[in-house]
Amino acid sequence: MCGIVGYIGSRDVKEILLQSLEKLEYRGYDSAGIAVKGEDETKVFKEKGRIRDLRNKVEDDFEGKVGIGHTRWATHGEPSVVNSHPHQSLDGRFTLVHNGVIENYVQLKEDYLEDVNLVSDTDTEIIVQLIAKFAKEGSSTLEAFKKTLSLLHGSYALGLLDNEDDHTIYAAKNKSPLLLGAGEDFNVITSDAMAMLKLTNNFVELMDGEVIQVMRDQMIIQDLEGNDIERESYIAEIDASDTELGTYPHYMIKEINEQPQVMRKIIKEYQDDNGDFKIDDAIIKQLNDADRLYIIAAGTSYHAGLIGKEYIEKWAGVPTEVHVASEFVYNTPLLSEKPLFIFISQSGETADSRAVLVDIKEKGYPALTITNVVGSTLSREADQTLILHAGPEIAVASTKAYVAQIAVLSIVAAVTARELGKKSDLNLMSELGKVTTAITSVIDDASTIEEIVKNFLETTRNAFFIGRTMDYYVGLEGALKLKEISYIQAEGFAGGELKHGTIALIEDGTPVFSLITQEKVNLNTRGNAQEVAARGANVCTIAMEGLEQEGDSYIIPRVDEMLTPLVSVVVYQLISYYAALHRGNDVDKPRNLAKSVTVE
Ligand code: F6R
Repeated sequence: MCGIVGYIGSRDVKEILLQSLEKLEYRGYDSAGIAVKGEDETKVFKEKGRIRDLRNKVEDDFEGKVGIGHTRWATHGEPSVVNSHPHQSLDGRFTLVHNGVIENYVQLKEDYLEDVNLVSDTDTEIIVQLIAKFAKEGSSTLEAFKKTLSLLHGSYALGLLDNEDDHTIYAAKNKSPLLLGAGEDFNVITSDAMAMLKLTNNFVELMDGEVIQVMRDQMIIQDLEGNDIERESYIAEIDASDTELGTYPHYMIKEINEQPQVMRKIIKEYQDDNGDFKIDDAIIKQLNDADRLYIIAAGTSYHAGLIGKEYIEKWAGVPTEVHVASEFVYNTPLLSEKPLFIFISQSGETADSRAVLVDIKEKGYPALTITNVVGSTLSREADQTLILHAGPEIAVASTKAYVAQIAVLSIVAAVTARELGKKSDLNLMSELGKVTTAITSVIDDASTIEEIVKNFLETTRNAFFIGRTMDYYVGLEGALKLKEISYIQAEGFAGGELKHGTIALIEDGTPVFSLITQEKVNLNTRGNAQEVAARGANVCTIAMEGLEQEGDSYIIPRVDEMLTPLVSVVVYQLISYYAALHRGNDVDKPRNLAKSVTVE
């Protein structure tokens, strides 16, 4: 969480920093700030709220060609101007932006800065005051920076300005993402390539423990011992227009609408010359060698993992467990003899998942990451990667990445089953094609779904999502989507579980969404819906064609029963979108959240 940028070059830096921060806002939007290095002074402009609020604070006539910027998701200290970045040393010489969390900041304050009156409540300020202290004691800026880095425990991507040096941005990283971008007469640092695509698509990856001096015409990468490191740059294959809204009012609805296109892309990318699904041989070997798979993920990606488990176990017969990353890391279950860990993550940066990855790599276990972001931390640090090909997902609420995760997991399961010689009647390629058409028809029917929102969610404070088997898992995702953007308290439940306690919450008019796509549990779930209806609930039944009954609120087109989550979730995504829209919420940037959760 939090995003940082820096620019050194021939142009005035203010607009460049503001525009690139706008692209990073998905990483946090509690407050923002920029620092501009002028002729004599480094001026900091910061504001609580969004970049648009910050714009009003920036002095147009203060110019500089070197600068750094930050957009914040608060961890230490409330969102406020004082706690916003950049932070400055008390003598005004050093200015710093930070993405990450410094775990030992209290200790560092006690050990080194007892006589310093800190201005903010942040862990970050400790870093800049330490650099200033070491510089005052005679260290060069580079030495002071490295000395400080050697004391830090935690995660960081840092950008540092020295008011006495017009030619350098200092940068470093540990666990938090940071890239260098190279241009004709400028260089940049950024948390994410997307933020700088207007300036360059030529990037250099940075590794943990590296210290970088970024100048207008060169970049020096060194390790903490001062050894130079050479690294090739790469061209980021992202189309800048993919990150624009176009004619859509929100990224979320744009991304929901892109799902058929994402499905087609996945079907194409995972096909071999004979038109069969393929994945890399090395991944097939990983899968074949494992006696049990452990899927590790968070939030929406965890929900996709639950569906993936069904595919892998039912089609390939490989035992599979799905775990919430933040729990697994502190409460690891007994592992099988030959586990394979599969990390599912849209961003590839989720700190909870990375903590598990670091731990299992130390223990020598193999890892596969399934992610949307090429070159992300989870991708680099796992042995193998499968890419989701969903294109940049900018709305905080994940939609197309979830569908892509399930589609890729279905391909992994089908290929594993084939390699293990399991017989199957399912023609996955053609069934995924039918799913694509079905998703399109749900999207085309968005106005009907908007009516459902008017009938069921307009005034409510809570809602329930019930279903069994696959429909239960989709209900968990539907509830998460609804609560994160509409702020309606929503919970997903296995249909049969409600009567064991939760049914006490049902009152007159409580909305209950009941999903019916699985023939064998159709009547059971309908029975559960009747139980809540008898207690006053306002039941909205969404059924698949062929299983529908009179009075159902919405019918989704018929697809293979195992693949229904790919279609039914689109109904829930649209319900959540319209519920948030009708409540006047910021659909793309819901309160308290950030897209890339890089703190544990
Ligand atoms: C919800 C959502 C989150 C993420 C979770 C994990 O819409 O997007 O629940 O799924 O924070 O993020 P990734 O997939 O990037 O690891």
